[in-house]
Amino acid sequence: MLRILMVCLGNICRSPLAEGLLKSKLDTSKYFVDSAGTGSWHIGHQPDKRSIAVADKHNLDISDQRGRQFSEVDFDNFDIIYAMDINNYEDLREMAKSDKDTQKVKLLLDILFPGENMDVPDPYTGGMFQFEQVYDILDKATTQLANQLNND
Ligand code: 4NP
Repeated sequence: MLRILMVCLGNICRSPLAEGLLKSKLDTSKYFVDSAGTGSWHIGHQPDKRSIAVADKHNLDISDQRGRQFSEVDFDNFDIIYAMDINNYEDLREMAKSDKDTQKVKLLLDILFPGENMDVPDPYTGGMFQFEQVYDILDKATTQLANQLNND
């Protein structure tokens, strides 16, 4: 069982979409996928209603997810930790307790744009257009990731 964690700041906009999309593309008997936020504001909250709406438009239901904060034990409980943006990436690397932990942290969009340090933009203060853009980029990244994993 390979365990993959998607991480953003609030765990209500980007990482719940990344979690839902990746789960929908993998055999969940072989892969465990979860998400978390580096911040604590949205612990126990449903995903943002705009993320729920954009997912729903594409027949993906993420409404059962609940926000949680990333914690150090996640380094032990997951094999790969994908950060949505550079700030998340740096925050996660600062929390790492060992080189092994540090090596688990990756920037999600490196899958599509290796070495370009591309962020999944934070849509929180935007509108539905920004959420659509985030959905599209996460759809592409998770398709590529699922293809890579299935070929390993
Ligand atoms: P996310 O977006 O990191 O994609 O979940 C945000 C959600 C909430 C906040 C910031 C970003 N916030 O400041 O509450």
